[in-house]
Amino acid sequence: MIEQWRAVDDYMSDRLIIPSERQGATLAANRASGLPAIDVSPPQGKLLHLLGLAIGARRVLEIGTLGGYSTIWLARSIAEGGQVVTIEFDPRHAEVARQNIAREGVSAKVDLRVGAALDILPKIEAEGGAPFDLSFIDADKANNAAYFGWALDLSRPGSLIIVDNVVREGAVANPNTTDDGGLGARRLFDAVAAEPRVTATAIQTVGSKGWDGFLVALVKG
Ligand code: SAH
Ligand code: DHB
Ligand code: MG
Repeated sequence: MIEQWRAVDDYMSDRLIIPSERQGATLAANRASGLPAIDVSPPQGKLLHLLGLAIGARRVLEIGTLGGYSTIWLARSIAEGGQVVTIEFDPRHAEVARQNIAREGVSAKVDLRVGAALDILPKIEAEGGAPFDLSFIDADKANNAAYFGWALDLSRPGSLIIVDNVVREGAVANPNTTDDGGLGARRLFDAVAAEPRVTATAIQTVGSKGWDGFLVALVKG
């Protein structure tokens, strides 16, 4: 099945994602540098971009930069003077990201922080970096509930919080799962369900990255 899912992603990308948006050099650099091929897919990256544009995002928080592919999509959605604050644990990944971000000409719109997100998030709060209009959570899945809590605390009414990889080939719906991602997703859904400050949904996806999905939460007034 995944070959067909990939073919459909390619078909849609060919028609809807124009060459100047594609970031072929970013993806090539990420693979040449040995980064895992877990960047968002091109249609997913464009969705992040469209959501940022639709809400007129100026401040974006990203947890999990990898090589900056999603970061660059987000940076290209924010208004002049806005910024994406993106957090990456692995200095090797961060270095590749820094080069990609520079090549794509968006360095001024990206503030890349290297370290564990749970160490960096309190610093961002203390610096007065909030509120963020949009948060994209895409790092270690075991901490997704904690990251959601942080993103919520750094939000304002009307902010969007998007969490990648919440389905994990269905592991999320298996109460006996031992998969880290499945367990992390289950804790996330429990946290979101119990959180009166948001209203949320989640969408399953198939595509070049297999069967997964993402959660979207809107912070209420
Ligand atoms: N958002 C990227 C993909 C991120 S992959 C894109 O779509 O292009 C997940 C990244 O999270 C990896 O680079 C990994 O090193 C990073 N990561 C893992 N644990 C982390 C932590 N505790 N804090 C910050 N980043 C972390
Ligand atoms: C993995 C991480 C991701 O962020 C993703 O989108 C797909 C897979 C992983 O760690 O396996
Ligand atoms: Mg992901």
